[in-house]
Amino acid sequence: MPSPETLAAEPLISLRDIHLSFGENRVLKGIDLDVQRGQAVSIIGPSGSGKSTILRCITGLLAPQRGSIRVGATQVETLTSEAQRIELRKKVGFVFQQYNLFPHLSVLENLVIAPRKVLGRSAVEAEKDARALLAKVRMEHKADAYPGQLSGGQQQRVAIARALAMRPELILFDEVTSALDPETVGEVLTVIRELTEEGMTCVLVTHEMRFAEDISDVVYFTENGLIVESGSAEQIFQRPTSERTQEFLRHALGDAGRRPAVNGDPYLLSNISRYSLSV
Ligand SMILES: Nc1ncnc2c1ncn2[C@@H]1O[C@H](COP(=O)(O)OP(=O)(O)OP(=O)(O)O)[C@@H](O)[C@H]1O
Ligand SMILES: [Mg+2]
Repeated sequence: MPSPETLAAEPLISLRDIHLSFGENRVLKGIDLDVQRGQAVSIIGPSGSGKSTILRCITGLLAPQRGSIRVGATQVETLTSEAQRIELRKKVGFVFQQYNLFPHLSVLENLVIAPRKVLGRSAVEAEKDARALLAKVRMEHKADAYPGQLSGGQQQRVAIARALAMRPELILFDEVTSALDPETVGEVLTVIRELTEEGMTCVLVTHEMRFAEDISDVVYFTENGLIVESGSAEQIFQRPTSERTQEFLRHALGDAGRRPAVNGDPYLLSNISRYSLSV
């Protein structure tokens, strides 16, 4: 058993030589990926390159045919029972493109249900936590609303709060803004940015290139089931070495995207001020 000091120095997530096929379709062809505690890591790349599959392997939702996946002290590929996978998912928050809130439960109830049922927390404690988390994502005024009464961006902020309610060690975000009205993208990105600033370990699959550049410590570029290139956000976005990365970014960023990254993106700031007006 490694000592606590050793564990702290090791990456929180470590993938080695992950191979995964769906039938004849070889989707992951040898993925190595590390995430240190407190890091924000983005995975970018073309559609179908295997990004979501990587995240699903980390949560134990998919089992690779070869390779090793470690999350904290858990060796994910060795888990055999559903009970063990549930233990893993207590540590790993997962937020998807579709928010998947329970439509028949209020916002507050959506946040309280899993901590009560899965973690066995008391109603009072779970509700206190839930209200604090709703305040954090600026949704406390909608505690008694139902998901159908909220905008996409508001529902996604509730989904993030719901993931946080389980007190995970890390959160995976899979294209959480791609189904949103452009008006509400910024408010969700602001919440994610704040989480990364607080030191939450985050892995993001995103098509929001400017955002990825701005908040990521490390960026991985995937194509066709392989990591083509990884490095600091600055290196990948400003000085990509692979021609494939260069070409992908040229398309993904377009002309408008080629301005340098700025702190306090005006797009995001405009959304912050919108909160104070609209909530
Ligand atoms: N459950 C599944 N069964 C069969 N094939 C699958 C399954 N899930 C994904 N695939 C295939 O695996 C490949 C990679 O899919 P994945 O969803 O990981 O891509 P992605 O990089 O997340 O793409 P996008 O940017 O479009 O979300 C695709 O060819 C996809 O069709
Ligand atoms: Mg995907």
